[in-house]
Amino acid sequence: MLESELICTSSIMSSQSVSATHFSELKSKIEQRQAKVAIIGMGYVGLPLALLYCERDFAVTGFDIDQRKVSTLNSGGSYIFRITAQEIQQAKDQGFSATADYAQLEQMDAIIICVPTPLNEYHEPDLSYITGTAESIAPHLQPGQLVVLESTTYPGTTEEVLIPILEKGNKLGLKANRGAETNVKSFFVAFSPEREDPGNQTVARRDIPKVIGGLDPQASELASALYGAIFNRTVRVSSPAAAEMTKLLENIYRCVNIALVNELKLLSLRMGLDIWEVIEAASTKPFGFHPFYPGPGLGGHCIPVDPFYLSWKAKEWDFRTRFIELAGEINTNMPYHVVDSVARALNQQKKAINGSKVLVLGVAYKKDIDDLRESPALTIIELLQKDGAQVSYNDPYFPTVGRGRKYDLQMKCAPLENLSQYDCVLIVTDHSDYDYERIVRESKLVVDTRNATRGISSPKIVHC
Ligand SMILES: NC(=O)c1ccc[n+]([C@@H]2O[C@H](COP(=O)([O-])OP(=O)(O)OC[C@H]3O[C@@H](n4cnc5c(N)ncnc54)[C@H](O)[C@@H]3O)[C@@H](O)[C@H]2O)c1
Repeated sequence: MLESELICTSSIMSSQSVSATHFSELKSKIEQRQAKVAIIGMGYVGLPLALLYCERDFAVTGFDIDQRKVSTLNSGGSYIFRITAQEIQQAKDQGFSATADYAQLEQMDAIIICVPTPLNEYHEPDLSYITGTAESIAPHLQPGQLVVLESTTYPGTTEEVLIPILEKGNKLGLKANRGAETNVKSFFVAFSPEREDPGNQTVARRDIPKVIGGLDPQASELASALYGAIFNRTVRVSSPAAAEMTKLLENIYRCVNIALVNELKLLSLRMGLDIWEVIEAASTKPFGFHPFYPGPGLGGHCIPVDPFYLSWKAKEWDFRTRFIELAGEINTNMPYHVVDSVARALNQQKKAINGSKVLVLGVAYKKDIDDLRESPALTIIELLQKDGAQVSYNDPYFPTVGRGRKYDLQMKCAPLENLSQYDCVLIVTDHSDYDYERIVRESKLVVDTRNATRGISSPKIVHC
């Protein structure tokens, strides 16, 4: 054998053994709960995840560019309604802290990214939070670290966007570990989508199986070990892209089915049928039917947004995702339908929207949660105001509604008193705290977008 061949062979062997050493070191640290876990993005997804790891005795550091969140967490406070200050304090007692200083990543073993993935003004994926995070991580990346992306996104993001930034920006010449092509200096990468259902009290977070797509089998194994420490079941798929697509399939399934019942609701209203009664009856079928419910329009960070990540990506393949587009059209139209219904209901009382006093009940995008993002209530309020209505709102989760990415309402929560002063009370979000019997009794007119007044019989109620 030539000398150069010998050198080459020995360097491959050493590279494989270095990668294998990193793998087994990290695996054993995770199994012994000694791995230091960094979670980037202390929002609705990242903070609860951090708390789960703390509960299982991992040392967790939360990273966020929002200094107010960092300070609140470090002083033992919470800014998410369903997470108590006591839970944050308990996590702090376990060693949890928050920081905006990315240099601290150098001490970490696993880095989980939970940053936003919204749409831009042209309804296209806005990956700036992912790219910004990757650019901040890269200079601090260490050999043998595991990086997992959790943010919902189109298939290909991990490999086409995240990894190139991490590989280009790190100072040590690290490459993502790709199975057979093991490099002396490498890091592990996986994608694992978040599947939380905010406000759901029936399924514990750790009972939701965690889907994992590693870039190579070692990354899959490490990510499975990491998530297996806090979730009861992990499900491995063949690649990051398969895991990215899995999350989109789940959300597109919801989006399309909600559009279907929204469309059937519009038809039912015309035909004088009660769609809620029909859905309840259909739900008694023990197989082949899963109920979805109509509403005033889609809300939240996921269902109105995620499907369009796929329709955007599909164009690269000369493919039109018609189901997604049609569902988007129907769901986007629902707030307009609600406002038309308010106009018709007022018209029955010989009143115009212009000048009428309307109280919107519930602005959160779904019941019993403190999340306003993409809430249809915001669009409905703006449309009513445009038509000249004097709009007030009440929501136990929001004392004020200020400025968001797409709205600037500057409103204060109105007390639930003297309901007869309003020409119309419009139920947009069916929070459990509301006493619907009292609301109907004391109001002149109630327009109900959620069937919240089911079981109450009154000519004042208009379903829409
Ligand atoms: N909220 C949900 O119920 C839910 C469910 C499933 C999936 N997801 C997905 O999870 C991801 C995160 O969603 P979320 O609801 O937690 O968002 P969020 O807005 O509540 O939190 C994101 C956090 O990331 C921080 N951040 C942004 N850029 C950063 C950076 N460069 N470095 C550090 N921190 C940064 C923000 O300040 C914010 O605190 C999104 O992709 C979303 O689609 C959310």
